[in-house]
Amino acid sequence: MSVPAKQGRITPKRIRSMKDGQPIVCLTAYTTPMARLLDAHCDLLLVGDSLGMVLYGMETTVSVTLDMMIAHGRAVMRGVKNACVVVDMPFGSYQESREVAFRNAVRLLQETGCDAVKLEGGEEMAETIAFLTTRGVPVLGHIGLMPQQVHTAGGYRSVGHSDEESAKLRRDASAIGSSGAFAVVIEGTVETLARELTAQVEVPTIGIGASSACDGQILVSDDMLGLFNDFTPRFVKRYDELGQRVRKAAEDYAREVRARQFPGPEHTFKRRS
Ligand code: KIV
Repeated sequence: MSVPAKQGRITPKRIRSMKDGQPIVCLTAYTTPMARLLDAHCDLLLVGDSLGMVLYGMETTVSVTLDMMIAHGRAVMRGVKNACVVVDMPFGSYQESREVAFRNAVRLLQETGCDAVKLEGGEEMAETIAFLTTRGVPVLGHIGLMPQQVHTAGGYRSVGHSDEESAKLRRDASAIGSSGAFAVVIEGTVETLARELTAQVEVPTIGIGASSACDGQILVSDDMLGLFNDFTPRFVKRYDELGQRVRKAAEDYAREVRARQFPGPEHTFKRRS
């Protein structure tokens, strides 16, 4: 089912023009209520495949499906009036061929009404991104630490520590920068290299664990709100401790129900006479 695009919001083209300007503010959102809360404060909301780990308790993002991304993309679109919405292409939905990537990207655009898609990969994905962007699909690139490659990388670790890794990232940044992508996420990359890549590429860089040198920043909202408590990576600043507050609210509720203090008279319907 096709969803009409919402008018009046920040476009990928506008994000593209924000190089060397005001820092680009981005967060993840997976649901309508969260999108409503974050929208006014963000230039870009990402329906990240991190939702597999954050919402569904998966070990990695590898098991996330296109149908999951479509469902959450639609939910987020119901909550936005301002931000540019980008939906992640999940693992397996774009690597096989540029034609498969195009077909799945079109499903994301048509079935969610989002503004753009994101896909992970450096020089090896540049041709696919060019195929998509020249056919009307705006693409946000993603280089550096790439969570969908956790199995081949042997885990999650920051990159750019060796000359070889740095050279590969320079090639990745250059290829994605000239592929037609409107911006590129740089994840888990050492500061000096992130700074160099930001100066090197024409499109804005959006950093996550890639220092303040990037043109914009993104965090997983649940991480920065203190909701996703299992592990806090070094690059996350917790702006609140909502997890603790939820636990406390649940504890208070349970105590009051057990003591028959809730519901009180003010929460109870009385028969109208
Ligand atoms: O899936 C995600 O949330 C992401 C961001 C961390 C950039 O890709």
